[in-house]
Amino acid sequence: MTNPFDDMTDDIFADKKVLTESYQPETILERDEEIEEYRYALQDVLFGREPENVMLYGKAGLGKTAVTKYMMSALREEVQEREQADELFIHEINCNGKTVFMVVRQLVNTLLPENASPFPKRGLGTGDAFEELYRQLDRIGGTHLMVFDEIDHLDEVDTLLYELPRARSNGHISEAQVGIIGISNNYTFRKTLSSKVKDTLMETEIAFSPYDATELGTILSDRANQAFAEDTCDQSAIRRAAALAAQDMGNARQAIDLLRVGGEVALRQGANRVTDEHIGEARERVQRGRLKNRISDQTDHAQYVLEAIAYLEQREKTPVRSKEIQDVYEEVASACGADPLTTLKSIQDHLSDLHMLGFLHRYERNQGLSGGQYYEYELNLDPEIVIETRKEIEGPAVDER
Ligand SMILES: Nc1ncnc2c1ncn2[C@@H]1O[C@H](COP(=O)(O)OP(=O)(O)OP(=O)(O)O)[C@@H](O)[C@H]1O
Ligand SMILES: [Mg+2]
Repeated sequence: MTNPFDDMTDDIFADKKVLTESYQPETILERDEEIEEYRYALQDVLFGREPENVMLYGKAGLGKTAVTKYMMSALREEVQEREQADELFIHEINCNGKTVFMVVRQLVNTLLPENASPFPKRGLGTGDAFEELYRQLDRIGGTHLMVFDEIDHLDEVDTLLYELPRARSNGHISEAQVGIIGISNNYTFRKTLSSKVKDTLMETEIAFSPYDATELGTILSDRANQAFAEDTCDQSAIRRAAALAAQDMGNARQAIDLLRVGGEVALRQGANRVTDEHIGEARERVQRGRLKNRISDQTDHAQYVLEAIAYLEQREKTPVRSKEIQDVYEEVASACGADPLTTLKSIQDHLSDLHMLGFLHRYERNQGLSGGQYYEYELNLDPEIVIETRKEIEGPAVDER
């Protein structure tokens, strides 16, 4: 038997990793104004002064993290050249899934001397963690920039943003200087902060706006030059990926994903170059993937309901009433080893949620002279996708239903 990998070749990608999420670009394009604002906000660091706090806002994939990483490494470099600058420490923390205690504890642990045991996970409170943080900051001295990415994910963010910026003025530290950089993709985040926090924290706000097709085109061309082998990526492919992403949310991450998946599609089809058609297929794949994630995010019973409607759809029985959906739902739930919900009302609640979420179409019907009203449902997506997703979750048994 031959090795299944035997005949795999890749004439398309020269350096595929530049199209992945973890790649940090060396140059930032089309963000000159934001970089200009950022530069002034952080300039105090160069002169040994306490830096301003900075808040960055903007939707997903607009370069907030990439620009911040770029600015931090540029600042690190520049500080080496400047005599007036204090020693600079940059602490980058992603707040997703963390509590304020965990964040402060993480800061403490990066500051503790090498041989010290880490700050305990349990037994002490956030106040104790702050105390230890101040102790360590004063021991080390210098300027500390704390970058809190996805800060809107943090509960009790007020505590963090109230404590840290005032550490010096409140006399908690005297040897070190602290600056905060907060990154959020939620514009309403600012409103959730208490006014005492807002008053002092927001010294510089930088807003990131969606990229247009031209800007995305510039970013993509630069990536494509590095990622693809010579002459294997059409200009039309870049234009298409930029246009599709611009039409959607102006998200650079999405644009880069389209280019990568487009390359994969081309490779799989044995094409010698990536064209706009490959990008079109990539978009379908990406959308399918997103839809699958949304389906698997639903509760088990909501998924059984969806699966039931998918079967009814395939048997051309839709639009269909909730009672008929319930019958099939019961079979699906039992086949998955779950106890089916017993009331029609609970199925109707799920149907109403699924309709609200856009998974279903709903039609209002009137019951002739008796005047009763009821709903009929059908899927608002390809039943194949529902069944495929369910198969990935439950295993091949789904096929036999
Ligand atoms: N101006 C740019 N120049 C070069 N690459 C960019 C630019 N803007 C974004 N990118 C790239 O696009 C992708 C998404 O950017 P980034 O992660 O910075 O977005 P973000 O604003 O932090 O999004 P989120 O809110 O989802 O965290 C990354 O791969 C990044 O390298
Ligand atoms: Mg980010």
